[in-house]
Amino acid sequence: MKDYVLVTGGTGYIGSHTVIELLNNGYDVVIVDNLCNSKALVVDRIEKIARKRPIFVELDVRDEKKLNEVFSNYNITSVIHFAGLKAVGESVEKPQLYYDNNIGSTEILLKVMRAHETKNIVFSSSATVYGNPKRVPIYEEDPVGEVTNPYAETKVKIEFMLKDLAKGDPTMNIAILRYFNPIGAHQSGLIGEDPNGIPNNIMPYITQVAIGKLPYLHVFGNDYKTKDGTGIRDYIHVVDLAKGHVATLKKLATNPGLVIYNLGTGVGTSVLELVNAFIAANGVDIPYKIEARRPGDIDTCYANCDKAYKEMGWKAIYNMVDCCKDSWNWQKHNPKGYGE
Ligand code: NAD
Ligand code: WQD
Repeated sequence: MKDYVLVTGGTGYIGSHTVIELLNNGYDVVIVDNLCNSKALVVDRIEKIARKRPIFVELDVRDEKKLNEVFSNYNITSVIHFAGLKAVGESVEKPQLYYDNNIGSTEILLKVMRAHETKNIVFSSSATVYGNPKRVPIYEEDPVGEVTNPYAETKVKIEFMLKDLAKGDPTMNIAILRYFNPIGAHQSGLIGEDPNGIPNNIMPYITQVAIGKLPYLHVFGNDYKTKDGTGIRDYIHVVDLAKGHVATLKKLATNPGLVIYNLGTGVGTSVLELVNAFIAANGVDIPYKIEARRPGDIDTCYANCDKAYKEMGWKAIYNMVDCCKDSWNWQKHNPKGYGE
């Protein structure tokens, strides 16, 4: 029986890019996604790029019966768990939805994995678990948990759940990956980030200003303790991030137990630097206005990624020009994202 990697949330932004890297590296993939924040069309785009079609099953990860069927139908040896809701503002308004979806789906997934003796899982955590970091760059051993919104709280709680699981069952291999700020898109321009409504994150906002869908960028604050007063983040190309998952699966194949890695670039970029890089890379203007800080935002957040390099040989290779060009290439060729 063939071995499969199960990718939950595999039609989403990071998931779709990761499925391509998995297929390119010879893995067979089953995607499960309930399409609450993505489109089935993504599967066709993945096939076009990778010249191989992943299996796609539309389901909610909380649907234990259907998930069980997937594990019965395919020999799932590893799981990459992207499925989850990720809008910080929405999580403040609807905390129960976030606890139920993000934590609930992980509990069911782990239960079904246990029933089928699937031992390897990669979990999509986030730099948000570090809250307002006491130092930058941030190292994996730095404190987590002092967070200020329910979305971040779900990531912290799932991390604790996985750490307990690793303690209780030494046969499990668990990777917690803390992503910094993914931007960019596949170089083909066939897949990319397609947020619903007005984007929360900065890069899709910039590309929608560039395409003329939004009039200007609201720069949230220029009075932070940073070089130009605007917030500093660690922007990582989504294809680099995707490749990080292939490296992680190889790591899990060595039976390491629990591992935790930051996936970022190690470079901090301010909002104004990002805007200027986008303008320079693409030759399009991005009008912006400086406005008040967005509640909950922090000054500076960037990673130390030495551990992922030392232990998995992975590091980000794309630079800010690549990120800006690929984000624009995706938006330009898909002005309405994946469409209706
Ligand atoms: P995304 O919304 O594009 O992808 C998530 C996918 O999960 C979507 O396709 C959605 O339909 C699906 N999904 C959600 N709940 C589900 C459920 N209960 N059952 C089945 N499918 C479900 O988001 P993304 O940016 O690709 O993020 C992927 C993961 O990485 C998420 O867990 C997110 O929290 C995490 N993450 C994202 C970022 C970021 O900035 N994009 C940063 C750090 C961590
Ligand atoms: C980046 C910078 C803003 C929008 C969020 C989540 C985090 C993680 C990644 C999932 C900040 C500024 C933004 C805009 C702006 N997601 N900005 N105008 O806030 O670092 O992280 O996404 O885990 O959990 O909190 O990313 O892209 O929203 O903001 O000036 O319209 O851009 O103030 O400095 P953030 P972001």
